[in-house]
Amino acid sequence: MAVFATDQPLVECGRYIAVAADCGACHRQAINHGVPFAGGYAIESPMGRIIASNITPSKQYGIGNYSEQQFANAVREGIAADGRNLYPAMPYTSYRDMTTADVQALYAYFMQGVEPADFPPSTRTDLSFPFNVRQIMWGWNLLFLSGTSADKAEALPGSLERGKYLVEVLAHCSACHTPRNIMMAEQNSLNLSGSSLGGWYAPNITPDKSGIGDWSQRDLVTYLKTGHLAGKAQAAGAMAEAVENSFSLMTDDDLNAMAAWVKQVPAIPTAIPDRSIQPPADVSDINTIITGQGALADRSTTDGAKLYENACASCHGHKGQGTDDSFYPSLTRNRAVSALGAQNLVMAIVEGIQRKTSNTDISMPAFAEQLNNAQIASISNYVHSRFAGIDDKMTAQDVQILRDGGVPPFIVRYINWLMALGTLMIVGLLGGIWYWRKVKRSGGQQIR
Ligand code: HEC
Ligand code: HEC
Ligand code: HEC
Repeated sequence: MAVFATDQPLVECGRYIAVAADCGACHRQAINHGVPFAGGYAIESPMGRIIASNITPSKQYGIGNYSEQQFANAVREGIAADGRNLYPAMPYTSYRDMTTADVQALYAYFMQGVEPADFPPSTRTDLSFPFNVRQIMWGWNLLFLSGTSADKAEALPGSLERGKYLVEVLAHCSACHTPRNIMMAEQNSLNLSGSSLGGWYAPNITPDKSGIGDWSQRDLVTYLKTGHLAGKAQAAGAMAEAVENSFSLMTDDDLNAMAAWVKQVPAIPTAIPDRSIQPPADVSDINTIITGQGALADRSTTDGAKLYENACASCHGHKGQGTDDSFYPSLTRNRAVSALGAQNLVMAIVEGIQRKTSNTDISMPAFAEQLNNAQIASISNYVHSRFAGIDDKMTAQDVQILRDGGVPPFIVRYINWLMALGTLMIVGLLGGIWYWRKVKRSGGQQIR
């Protein structure tokens, strides 16, 4: 792209690493996905919105003045060139083990292969106290940033070691799929066993039967490459973006190595749903069928069966069977439907699905505007019970919580209490010191 490239093979190598590490997922420009890496995109963290930086080689607004060492420090240690501690919304905890050769190639790519965007990100990070004190990340790093960024040798293409490196470091699967502790750090002992991500849920992808134990290596490669595994799963939400911008553009060798690695991580069991209820009677005789999406004639109904017929059946079939070619997927054999909890089912209805790969253009409409929370809850309960036999009691309020990005984590919910407790302890401590000095000064006599 850029005409001033001097180090072409290294730059091309860096371009691939930037794809595998999906730097563009967050560092895209906010408006219309405009200029690559111009920043401004807001990552909705539970603490507030964190704005990704401009990482084009613009000297004024980007990282044009970064030395290679400063770049390495930002990517692997979370320290910006001006000494700022970066928030872990920038996944330096995963990139920690990036090889020096890869960092060098990435640096060459960002300096020589990316057009400078000479404008600042449209908004700025604005977190409330105490999360706006970047220095607290110093303590957090001390607790949770393990080891030193070691300089490991490059793993052989196609090897299991290469798979580990891709999964754990570049592709940072754990950033989404690993549960976090109360301080928002990944829990390594529960690696890849599933975690909430805004309203979505990134499921258990360990080889347990509650995870993807019944997927072959080939299944996993197909899913990563296309976002679609017939009769099993489709990628929506952040996974659709990762497939579109990263995994679908990686080499088959790398995808195979990643799948091989994921297939052998420790299997971690998680809860599975109780499929106890009898699917309701066949509804194919419903006389209010109005096919065609968007034809939500009766906006006030909260009858799940009717709403399903109106809003979903045109694509997914009256019996949830989907189309034969599974372009419109079956809902009876669908992990978003058969999973414990209706998070991804609800989010798919709310946000729809958009995903492009080289040979497909997938789209399911978003119903956020057309359907209210109570209606979405009743469709979800209906789909869950009829197509998966799961008795679910999703309420309108639950849907609203998911729309708002899910239940905030402990640290965010209780930060005021924690700060109050901290203040009390400090006041108590100061009081104690004052008392002790007073007692000392009065020679141990009683204070009046
Ligand atoms: C999941 C989102 C995400 C991904 C993926 C990501 N970044 Fe970041 N990055 C951020 C955010 C957010 C910030 C700003 C953090 C802050 O303000 O504390 C940031 C900051 C940076 C900075 C510091 C720039 C500055 O001076 O402010 C650099 C350099 C950087 N990222 C490079 C990269 C590279 C290279 C990649 C790919 C290898 C990458 N990032 C992938 C979210 C991401
Ligand atoms: C940016 C966040 C993010 C990253 C990074 C990510 N995933 Fe996902 N993943 C998700 C979400 C969210 C879903 C649920 C999507 C859905 O149901 O439509 C998902 C779904 C999946 C599924 C389907 C599981 C099921 O039960 O349906 C597999 C398999 C998977 N991811 C594997 C991976 C692998 C392997 C990596 C790393 C190479 C990875 N993911 C990286 C967010 C992510
Ligand atoms: C215009 C056609 C269309 C309509 C209408 C439609 N869908 Fe979909 N749906 C799709 C497509 C396409 C996919 C994704 C296929 C893929 O990813 O390959 C999908 C995927 C899904 C998934 C899987 C999501 C995931 O995360 O894996 C669920 C669940 C779903 N739809 C439920 C519904 C429900 C419920 C309705 C009605 C409210 C509905 N759909 C309406 C086309 C449609």
